[in-house]
Amino acid sequence: MHPQASEITPRALVENRRQALQHLLLGAGTLATPWAIGQTQALGKLPALAHKPSQVPGAQALDKPSAYQDATGYNNFYEFGTDKSDPAANAHTLKTTPWTVDIEGLVKKPGRWALEDLMALGAMEERIYRLRCVEGWSMVIPWVGFSLAELIRKVEPLGSAKFVEFVSLADPKTMPFVGSRMLQWPYTEGLRLDEALHPLTLLAFGMYGEVLPKQNGAPLRLVVPWKYGFKSAKSIVKIRFTEKQPATAWNQAAPQEYGFYSNVNPAVDHPRWSQASERRLGEDGLLAKRRKTLPFNGYEAQVASLYTGMDLKKYY
Ligand code: MTE
Repeated sequence: MHPQASEITPRALVENRRQALQHLLLGAGTLATPWAIGQTQALGKLPALAHKPSQVPGAQALDKPSAYQDATGYNNFYEFGTDKSDPAANAHTLKTTPWTVDIEGLVKKPGRWALEDLMALGAMEERIYRLRCVEGWSMVIPWVGFSLAELIRKVEPLGSAKFVEFVSLADPKTMPFVGSRMLQWPYTEGLRLDEALHPLTLLAFGMYGEVLPKQNGAPLRLVVPWKYGFKSAKSIVKIRFTEKQPATAWNQAAPQEYGFYSNVNPAVDHPRWSQASERRLGEDGLLAKRRKTLPFNGYEAQVASLYTGMDLKKYY
């Protein structure tokens, strides 16, 4: 993302460390992914979350899901540190019970929801989505949750509501990097109301059939599969309906690098990283090929009509 040199291990150093480790591992005859060392997390440790396969077009498996160890050991969650292994190491301090979500702004029914009531609002489905990070890697994750639209309809947005803002928890007592100069806290993200209402936009409570691990944004997060990963805010405590386009954490940190829309677009490069291809986690042996990045991350058929007539180079 947009690391400030003074605050984190330089990327090249981290990559070198990873490569050195990988050589060691290959030499030792194992195929474990290097970043999982010491953080290995197994399925079956968290409560299961009952669900059905999703019928929503685009939510079925096209690619093989990533290994649970990769999805839970290589994360961005800056409240817990800037290295990819920090969230798995540090997020155990996050307190997820009790948890409430405030619905605010331009709705007929604002109010505070207990997590349990929110979870009971819709039928839990498994959705297998690609997640593409702007840094150039991707994963495939079987999420569990339901369309955010189910909640939006329940709270009845007013006619004047045009955008939805998502606010993550910012608790310096349990999140050691809240307060660092990296980003403005709390972490915020936003969608246009029609994007938020799209059936693919997921309110996720679980992954791999279990509740979300803390490093992946427990107890609830957003997943917007056609946008870069940073749009998918974790550990949400507030959802606000607004008339004006809300500010977002990454756009505030580096507006020339991160726009409001952030649709995955192989034709528009980030100033520092090409978006034309990606590295799928788990496929990064020495001979692994990069995959071509698809427009809208492969969800073009489902979502391109949201942007008819828009210049996607300008609205990046
Ligand atoms: N949400 C919060 N609150 N804080 C963050 O730092 N990082 C984002 C997004 N949501 C982030 C966040 C980024 S940059 C990415 S790529 C995804 O979470 C990563 O999700 P994952 O760790 O489940 O793969």
